[in-house]
This record gives sequence, C-alpha cells and structure tokens, in this order.
Amino acid sequence: MIEIKNLKKFYGERTVLDIPELIINDGEMLALAGANGSGKTTLLKILGGIIKASEGSLSVSENILYMPQNSYAFRGDLIKNILVGGADRSKALELLEKLELSHLADKKAKSLSGGELQRLSLCRVLSKKCDVLLLDEPTSACDAKGAELVIKAIKEYQSESGCTVIMSTHSPMLALNASDRLIILNGGRIESDGSPEETLANPETQWAKSFAAGWKI
Ligand SMILES: Nc1ncnc2c1ncn2[C@@H]1O[C@H](COP(=O)(O)OP(=O)(O)OP(=O)(O)O)[C@@H](O)[C@H]1O
Ligand SMILES: [Mg+2]
Repeated sequence: MIEIKNLKKFYGERTVLDIPELIINDGEMLALAGANGSGKTTLLKILGGIIKASEGSLSVSENILYMPQNSYAFRGDLIKNILVGGADRSKALELLEKLELSHLADKKAKSLSGGELQRLSLCRVLSKKCDVLLLDEPTSACDAKGAELVIKAIKEYQSESGCTVIMSTHSPMLALNASDRLIILNGGRIESDGSPEETLANPETQWAKSFAAGWKI
C-alpha cells in the first residue's frame, strides 16, 4: 500500500503539489490526468524518490521502477539499451517482439523515431521486476497502434507481477482501457478520484466536468 499524508511541494513561493491524503492499494492501476503543469510528473518523481517532497509523509515500497516523461537512448543497439536495465537477453528479445521493435533490434537506439524510442524505453523498464511501476505519459509519442501495444504490455506486466501501476496521461484511451482508478489533478490538488468510467461520465466538480468534456468522452 502507498500512503501519502499532507504531501506538499513548493518551488519558491509556488505550491505545485498539495495532497492532504492519498492511499493507493497494492495491485491498483491508477491513471493520473490533468492539464500541463498540474503536478503529475512532480507526484511521480516524489513517489519514485527522484525528488523530495517539501512537506508531509510518504510510505512506499523501495522496489520501484520509473519511466520518465522524456525517453532517452544510450549508445548502442536496442538490445544493449534493454540489457542496461539488468534484463537477460531472452527477456529483452521477448519485449522487443511484444512492442514490435524486433526488426530494429540491432539498429542504433539513438536513431529511433520518437514513438519507437518511447516503446524501447518501456521495454527497458518492463525487463525488470518491481512492486510499483511509475510511468510518466507512456503513450505520449505513440501512434494509435503503438499506444495499443504499450497498453497491452503494461496490462500483461501488471497481471503477471501483481504490481501497483501509476501512470500519468493525457490519453482517454489509456485512462479507460488500462486503469481501474482515475485521479484528476488541478493546480497540484486532487480534483476528482474514482473509477475512470464514473469519473468521466459523472465528473464530481464543475472543473472536472469541463476537463472531461475536453477529452470528448
Ligand atoms: N524544478 C522546478 N522548478 C520550478 N518549477 C518547477 C520545477 N519542476 C516543475 N515545476 C513546476 O511545477 C508545476 C508542475 O509540473 P509537472 O511537471 O509536475 O506538471 P505535469 O502535470 O507533469 O505537466 P505536463 O502535462 O506538461 O507533463 C509546473 O507548473 C512546473 O512549471
Ligand atoms: Mg509531466
């Protein structure tokens, strides 16, 4: 279980995250939505231990994997880029196959397109085991087919491992197809929290209503 109490993040005078209480149960698949700058990445980075909260407490497993919003490639081919994460070769090949990157396996990772690189970044993360998987906009660079592959791979990883998945997204498809809970952030605060279908069909607040309308649901 992940437990957050009175969590705040300040940058100078600005409060960019303010969460009085949040409990995320083991095995939950949680989507974090909200406009640019609403605090999604900040929350994921705090959960992943990349940055520290300014105030409050957080209890979370130490066995966490984090996929950043901006994908990156190391020097070398795709397989080498996955093995960097500590995977064995057969696992790397299996993931490349699953994310339809096998035909590029021996190419330089730095030469990949944005969507290909994002799928490689996911392969690197999914090659390892964890209790908590943090994914920052895992389908943002993907076309429709790529997004489907990513969603399928995340769901399979979750059902095999039982881990908790927390992913930020601007994609209604990801929120509806791969999550059992949707939290909408607004200015660093939780505006809405519930099942994706319910939240999008019956938004709790006026703000969440206009946000859901923007998603054309
Ligand atoms: N290092 C920093 N210094 C100052 N302000 C920061 C810093 N990092 C983030 N912020 C601010 O915190 C706010 C929340 O940023 P965050 O990256 O969490 O947003 P986000 O919801 O992930 O947005 P996006 O959808 O664009 O990825 C933004 O207004 C951002 O400008
Ligand atoms: Mg972000």
